Amino acid sequence: MKKYIMALDAGTTSVRAMIFDENGSIVQTSQKEFKQYFPNPGWVEQDANEIWASILAVIADALSTSEIEPQKIAGIGITNQRETAVVWDRHTGHPIYHAIVWQSRQTADICKKLKDKGYDQMVRSKTGLLIDAYFSGTKVKWILDHVDGAREKAANGELLFGTIDTWLIWKLSGGRVHVTDYTNASRTLMFNIYDLKWDGELLDMLGVPAKMLPEVHASSEVYGKTISYHFFGEEVPIAGIAGDQQSALFGQACYDAGMVKNTYGTGCFMLMNTGEKAVHSKNGLLTTIAWGLEGEITYALEGSIFVAGSAIQWLRDGLRMLKTSPESENYAVRVKSTDGVYLVPAFVGLGTPYWDSDARGAMFGLTRGTTKEHFIRAALESLAYQTKDVVNAMEEDSGIKLKTLRADGGASLNNFLMQFQSDILGVPVERPTNNETTALGAAYLAGLAVGVWKDRSEIATIWKRGKIFHVQMGVEKRNTLYSGWKKAVEATRAFKP
Ligand code: G3P
Repeated sequence: MKKYIMALDAGTTSVRAMIFDENGSIVQTSQKEFKQYFPNPGWVEQDANEIWASILAVIADALSTSEIEPQKIAGIGITNQRETAVVWDRHTGHPIYHAIVWQSRQTADICKKLKDKGYDQMVRSKTGLLIDAYFSGTKVKWILDHVDGAREKAANGELLFGTIDTWLIWKLSGGRVHVTDYTNASRTLMFNIYDLKWDGELLDMLGVPAKMLPEVHASSEVYGKTISYHFFGEEVPIAGIAGDQQSALFGQACYDAGMVKNTYGTGCFMLMNTGEKAVHSKNGLLTTIAWGLEGEITYALEGSIFVAGSAIQWLRDGLRMLKTSPESENYAVRVKSTDGVYLVPAFVGLGTPYWDSDARGAMFGLTRGTTKEHFIRAALESLAYQTKDVVNAMEEDSGIKLKTLRADGGASLNNFLMQFQSDILGVPVERPTNNETTALGAAYLAGLAVGVWKDRSEIATIWKRGKIFHVQMGVEKRNTLYSGWKKAVEATRAFKP
């Protein structure tokens, strides 16, 4: 019987169910966007129940439209927006507060207090992260601090915490399985990435009881099964978990130390596989777990950009300049340059290398001649400039000069952006034929656990280069444009209303 793998990709703005065949080819995709809540400036929240309902809807849709019988699904791989924190009641299954999204800045004050108390060094040395509202730990603390009775319930073991992978697996398994994997745990600010355990000192710092936390597992193994009524009568093994950025690294077949990918999604995340070595950054990169597989841990260096595709979404939904995000390419190429216009999309602060929670978005260089086209082009270019900031940090920390960049994610389909990216970096950018590397990574992890694929070398042969964007811009122009960006960032950071 032909076997398939289903990847559930629970992203920041939408969820998807994708069915892959044994060749790693996509057979069916079903996608559903869900609502974002912005209750205060800089806050971003979601309804975890809506995410769950959307997952059920896309599973049903993918199965029925592909006409693949559920018993042919050999395993499910989960990949997810990372850091987003959900706290729910273990008896009722109800979240006690909205999910606080990775982009949300509502815990910036908590972070400031922790830094003032001098916790930074301890956090960095255990987690590879830094104290920032981005990571889950302070989000959990915020929920426990703000929801009536939550602290007491948590202490009594009545509440559970999870990132979105954990929440979905708990729901899919009918509340039987409370797990996460090393990649997701490594983003919580509560997990020691060296001794691979939840860390008592970090939990004390945040006031989070260990009872709330999921068991941490490898990224590829059978964690449990779906309960049959969530999967059309079948108990399907849930066999792979990885945070979406690590999953994309896996799906891009970056299996050797030194290999790098950049995913242009809601945010933009560049990961370099550093092998069994956890490299410490002096330039604002994060040290994180790439995956735990076959009893071994692989580490990565990561540059995190908070706003990338969501800047284009903002042009579409907030400013109503676009009907669809892909349209941005047509507008951008209608002008030869931005004519000196820069957008710094620091809508939720700035990540690597600046780590500035207080910065907010800004636009520079506007003239009476500035048009919508310049504006849209500046938004797209901001993704490439932010990526250049990260590459600079990565080259310094690793001592490795980037030779090519493997790109993926929704906005990597934008040819203008990929060409500009190559021009600003001064290296070729490669886009694989299968751009859906995040979901593919999760499918591979699950497929390895249930025997659809034998090992990584078999998978590496499936990866196919699609298009290469070669450098077309001269050095002088590149330097001039980039120095304008640096000035725009500094001015953005200096602005205090
Ligand atoms: O760390 C946040 C990241 O996992 C979100 O990914 O694809 O939604 O930009 P994405």
